[in-house]
Amino acid sequence: MSNVKIKVSKLSKSFGSKEVLKNVNFEVKKGESVVILGGSGSGKSVLIKNISTLMEPTSGSIKIDGQEITKLGAKHHDSLMAKIGFLFQGGALFDSLTIWENVAFRLLYQKKLDKKDAKEIAISKLKAVGLSEKTADLYPSELSGGMQKRASLARAIAANPEIIFFDEPTTGLDPIMADVINDLIISNSKELGASSITITHDMASAKKIADKIAMLYHGEIIWFGDAKDMYSSNNPFLDQFVNGRADGPIKFNKN
Ligand SMILES: Nc1ncnc2c1ncn2[C@@H]1O[C@H](COP(=O)(O)OP(=O)(O)O)[C@@H](O)[C@H]1O
Ligand SMILES: [Mg+2]
Repeated sequence: MSNVKIKVSKLSKSFGSKEVLKNVNFEVKKGESVVILGGSGSGKSVLIKNISTLMEPTSGSIKIDGQEITKLGAKHHDSLMAKIGFLFQGGALFDSLTIWENVAFRLLYQKKLDKKDAKEIAISKLKAVGLSEKTADLYPSELSGGMQKRASLARAIAANPEIIFFDEPTTGLDPIMADVINDLIISNSKELGASSITITHDMASAKKIADKIAMLYHGEIIWFGDAKDMYSSNNPFLDQFVNGRADGPIKFNKN
């Protein structure tokens, strides 16, 4: 059996005449953590939205467990979604639901678990990310930013996904809370044996989380390799990014 979990080939995505992704190719092995680096607007979120079927590519192929997912019927789509967990950029908890209802959302509405069982699982997942049972009945607005991220992480892992997407999981957190979230991402992904794709521009996170690094620049992967090689890539774009230099081939918007 192949150990490739996700295979992206010749993936392109345009909005009207705007080409956001251009001929993207990479793969994620089972249990592997791939981190996508890139400046804002480089197409990172669009890329993982395509892989998680929230968006449809303009052309190219995406295979999960060998199955082409770009043209799935509704029936197969449900079983694919059951394999996927998502931590959205900004956390995006539902304001009008309690924390446990947020965490258990898919268990309730997709897996149709009864309330009591779903709440029990939600509480165990909250504990796995270091939140006490008491937070279960609170609303998102009653939690600090760090606690909201933890709750979002609990939601992403609640249905034991095989693949987890993390879109800027540490953005907006102080360095200590960011590190806590990094550790939770690693421990929970390992525990599930899940493959993950994480978007970040936080180098401390990338170093800690990544097995592989993909650097996206203007919609193209300009470097893909082992995380241990990211500081010795001799790629001027990656070099500038990982060292956070203002000078180099990447031109930052100075507005
Ligand atoms: N639904 C959409 N319609 C039109 N343009 C979009 C849409 N989603 C993203 N874009 C554009 O695609 C580019 C990449 O966006 P995104 O992937 O969100 O960037 P980032 O790398 O910061 O996550 C941006 O220029 C954005 O404006
Ligand atoms: Mg984004």
